[in-house]
Amino acid sequence: MELNIVCIPGDGIGPEIVTEAKKVLDAVGEKFGHTMKYTDILMGGASIDVHGVPLTDEAIETAKGADAVLMGSIGGDTATSPWYKLEPNLRPEAGLLKLRKSLQLFANLRPAILYDELAGACPLKEEISKAGFDMMIMRELTGGLYFGERYTKEVDGKLVATDTLTYSEDEIRRIAIKGFDIAMKRRKKVTSVDKANVLDSSRLWRKVVEEVAKDYPQVTLEHMLVDNCAMQLVKDPAQFDVILTENMFGDILSDEASMVTGSIGMLASASLNDTRFGLYEPSHGSAPDIAGKDIANPIATVLSASMMLRYSFDLDKEADAIDGAVKKVLQDGYRTADIMPQEKEEAAAFKLVGCKEMGDLLTQRI
Ligand code: IPM
Ligand code: MG
Repeated sequence: MELNIVCIPGDGIGPEIVTEAKKVLDAVGEKFGHTMKYTDILMGGASIDVHGVPLTDEAIETAKGADAVLMGSIGGDTATSPWYKLEPNLRPEAGLLKLRKSLQLFANLRPAILYDELAGACPLKEEISKAGFDMMIMRELTGGLYFGERYTKEVDGKLVATDTLTYSEDEIRRIAIKGFDIAMKRRKKVTSVDKANVLDSSRLWRKVVEEVAKDYPQVTLEHMLVDNCAMQLVKDPAQFDVILTENMFGDILSDEASMVTGSIGMLASASLNDTRFGLYEPSHGSAPDIAGKDIANPIATVLSASMMLRYSFDLDKEADAIDGAVKKVLQDGYRTADIMPQEKEEAAAFKLVGCKEMGDLLTQRI
């Protein structure tokens, strides 16, 4: 099969980690008889530097023409980079938001898994972490506060800023269906997270999710308020299977969940629309402080490529080969700096490797 993939290396460590992910994908192609066709587009700061905007219409068209998009990361240091002196709609992040919206990528899947091999990295007390956890945060990605009307105006000589949070029942229904579909393939539990004790949009969310749940009698549905969910994630993360939530809550909770794993350099994500098309990217940012030093962890991007094979191409065996290679490389004792134990004695049992070497080690294990 020919896989037509658009790559967005982006900024910071993005280009390095995407290079390694391509290496692993090529090895998969060779082993299973697929041809990988890559086309690069610019987004974020890399695009601002060349075109003056974070994403051009041509780049969007190129992405639309592909089967899937594999992204590294975008953005720079917000305190020092000249990109952040620009108007908000010309900054790197605006490119990502525009891409999500233009491709209608409304379903954002963010797995947060505590790997057995990295259990020591979990910042929670051992009595909590020993239960392990494996959750999927399903975040709505093209609605809510991110895309509502916003403006700042002067009222009686004072500035007043407004952002609006709107959800239609159709927007809620389509993400809820995705959430329940995913739950059916997992442990069949959905925790729908909202703020229904305060917000109208959350009350509608709850109502629509309950309607959708009727079509999934095997799935257990529970509702949880977002503030409680933030607590439960550190108190008892093992209770979660699928967390289904709106855009802003999902943004915040997914960062919290990834931190709880202690290994954000390992976490992948997928953003899907109603077709098989998807955008795949690591959950972490562009880490400008370590860019170009060959010390970044490429595993989250490699695992994003695995999600791409699974969700956009239905290539489960191939995706399993990547996931297996990641497990093996960890079992074999290789660690990039971010997942290396902090204590010297503990670290002595492992081999510290850079970004490129990690890519090679993974490639050899495909
Ligand atoms: C994320 C990021 C983005 C978001 C930013 C870069 C706009 O934090 O993907 O979670 O808030 O969605
Ligand atoms: Mg975020």
